[in-house]
Amino acid sequence: MNKPPLNEHPLNRATLSKAPLDKQANDAPFCSEAADSFTMPARYYLDENIHALEMEAIFYNQWWYAGHASQLARSGDYLTSDIGDQSIVVTRDKDGELRAFYNVCQHRGHELVSGQGHTRFLVCPYHAWSYELSGELRFARNSENVADFNKCDFALKAVQVEIFCGMVFVNLDPNAASLASQAPGLEQEIREYCPSVDDLQYVARDRYEVKCNWKVMIDNFLECYHCAPAHRDFVDLVDMDSYRSTAKGIYSSHISKAVRSTTNKAYEFEVGDVDFGYAGWFLWPNLTIWAYPGEANLSVLQMIPDGVGGTIEYQDWFVRGGNITDQLQETIAYQKDVLQPEDIGLCESVQRGLNSRGYNQGRFIVDKDRSELSEHAVHHFQAMVVEALGADLK
Ligand code: FES
Ligand SMILES: [Fe+2]
Repeated sequence: MNKPPLNEHPLNRATLSKAPLDKQANDAPFCSEAADSFTMPARYYLDENIHALEMEAIFYNQWWYAGHASQLARSGDYLTSDIGDQSIVVTRDKDGELRAFYNVCQHRGHELVSGQGHTRFLVCPYHAWSYELSGELRFARNSENVADFNKCDFALKAVQVEIFCGMVFVNLDPNAASLASQAPGLEQEIREYCPSVDDLQYVARDRYEVKCNWKVMIDNFLECYHCAPAHRDFVDLVDMDSYRSTAKGIYSSHISKAVRSTTNKAYEFEVGDVDFGYAGWFLWPNLTIWAYPGEANLSVLQMIPDGVGGTIEYQDWFVRGGNITDQLQETIAYQKDVLQPEDIGLCESVQRGLNSRGYNQGRFIVDKDRSELSEHAVHHFQAMVVEALGADLK
């Protein structure tokens, strides 16, 4: 009997800190067509340098979910969000305008605020310089005795902010086009599955720490090929024959038009505003948006890189009138206690596997006619990563 050839592992892990972006001799091609393509090489999920490049090339110039408009409903409300090592504060100023700034005092660089809250001014804890919620420096103790001190020179540094379907997004790139213009059609789709989107309020945040690269979690969201083997309750809730994954520009839709049963293993419900099985969207680069059947709800699950091998996930829940009914509690509990642990287990195992010397790349399973079994949306995402990094993997 022939023995299988011994594996020549593609990369000596000791050289990873200088791992190359472009195709290497042992790499199979990452192609523009999903059906022809191998997956991204494993080093993309392991290498510190590639991770640092991603922060610059992706996260510091794309729209980043920061919170929900209902958390900034009144003048004086503020919240913070960290994009990598860049802390941002979003405020509702006294004229009712939404504003966003780097969360840093213009005196000697202390962070201004943390978490979220309500205030008349942003006051730095270090030497008590204070700023209007519209960013102007309001008061700097003893600065009147400093020659040529001009308060106008020390306003907070603004960043772009936009509300999209009730969600607040910020962008560090001052020249970025609006999110609505970059994702045409997405708002209409969200409204189709959540017509009461304008009446939703933030009610809860669930937090998960996961031992995998952020892209493993996005890859996992983007296909339901794994749903039958790994999510027994989900495939009892959702009619998988009607599940369709469709990639469109900077987002993709993952929608099941029909519910399998309202008395299923995931949670029981009565048909709500809209009769559907499940609707999810991926929005580049790291946001997933979910609508479950039953009473109106929307949630976002944001995959936040925490070093190259870690991800912090925030899942924020928005429900009508801010009222978590018993049914919505069951929906949230299903996600938190069943689906998320299932996905986290899968993703942490994949991260360990990506680090194996016995693995570098696989093939995408692509079937346009049976998109519930197809991974073309994973390829769509990975192609965006490759493009953003300017890598040549063909
Ligand atoms: S660093 Fe903020 S007041 Fe000095
Ligand atoms: Fe899953």
